[in-house]
Amino acid sequence: MHHTGLDRSALDAFNLDAGLTLEQADHMIENVAGLYALPVGIAQHFIVNGREVLVPMVIEEPSVVAGASYMAKLARATGGFVASTDAPEMIGQIQILDITDLPAARQRLLNHKTELLQEAAQFDPVLISRGGGPRDLEVRLIEESPIGPFLVLHLIYDVRDAMGANAVNTALERLSPRVEAISGGRVHLRILSNLADRRLARAATTIQLDQLAFGQFSAEEVRDGIIEAWAFAAADPYRATTHNKGIMNGVDAVVLATGNDWRAIEAGAHAYAAHSGRYTSLSTWGKDAAGNLTGRLEMPLAVGIIGGATRVHPGAQAALKLMGVTTAAELAEIIVSVGLAQNLAALRALATEGIQRGHMALHARQIAIAAGAIGDQIDQVADRMVQEQNIRVERAQEILLQLEKKN
Ligand code: MEV
Repeated sequence: MHHTGLDRSALDAFNLDAGLTLEQADHMIENVAGLYALPVGIAQHFIVNGREVLVPMVIEEPSVVAGASYMAKLARATGGFVASTDAPEMIGQIQILDITDLPAARQRLLNHKTELLQEAAQFDPVLISRGGGPRDLEVRLIEESPIGPFLVLHLIYDVRDAMGANAVNTALERLSPRVEAISGGRVHLRILSNLADRRLARAATTIQLDQLAFGQFSAEEVRDGIIEAWAFAAADPYRATTHNKGIMNGVDAVVLATGNDWRAIEAGAHAYAAHSGRYTSLSTWGKDAAGNLTGRLEMPLAVGIIGGATRVHPGAQAALKLMGVTTAAELAEIIVSVGLAQNLAALRALATEGIQRGHMALHARQIAIAAGAIGDQIDQVADRMVQEQNIRVERAQEILLQLEKKN
């Protein structure tokens, strides 16, 4: 049985069994020995740029999907999330060695910029016809390195709806002979940079103050507690790492569900978090004039909806269909919104009751099942154990016996 807690019709477009066949897997990587499954949860209540969206999340960790959904619900009172993206411009790098007069070689390359860009525009007619292609060229002088100074050429390349690694790497390799000829140097590495800091996605949300009160916590206490928690991450790299990890819980789960390269996203996110020279929080929390909580997240998001695993994996296809996403930008806007929601879920829990409570509830359910509880018994036994703060199989068995005696 599929247990999503969602209206089945909402999931009509989504194939919940969209797994990968061994045959498909065999074409994806080498030495395929089998398949490896992870849960797909559906985050609810999200409104991104005025559009309702169900978000598939692939993740092994409990509480993440529930946390994102709950925060998306709190954000609904003000219209959810407003998100945007920059143009899908990636940076490709060419390392140029063995040059004696670096500034002169740099100038020669810059003098040939138009010609080099024109040449790069010949490589991928399909991308050009879709409005993508080379945009700009920069030449950087690396003054100090373990092998001494050298030049780095950056090719700025608009990859439209692709993640872009293939398009950029191909362009770099094909451009290299001209770069060698013009610079008089030796081209060494030719590779995409995962620090996609021209392809940023950003999301903002406002949580109405009255949405924040719960249990014994007043709305002001929760709001100020969240801002204090954020300030910790803003000031301290040890905390910022964990704070950003919480953001990535949401980001990676959607990246993974859509067959995108989550290592590329991780690498870019953490490098961007250090772009000021000191590693810090990717998000910002504060309050507006009316006292509402405001949040904002900005990070590089090089995700695609064509090519690679996104095209091959039926689960990725189903995920894109469920979200009704038709451009890479729309996908990035949803992902950055989920990241912000996830961050809020973690901060709200940490600033109030701590995160173990939610985890304990799930843990208690697992123990109840291990003790033999079925159906309604699972929640009854789990709730009792949480209340008593005594989550053990023996206790679950005792409670089960009591329940059975009553019936
Ligand atoms: C756990 O997966 C994520 C958190 O540690 C994030 C955070 O501390 O902000 C709860």
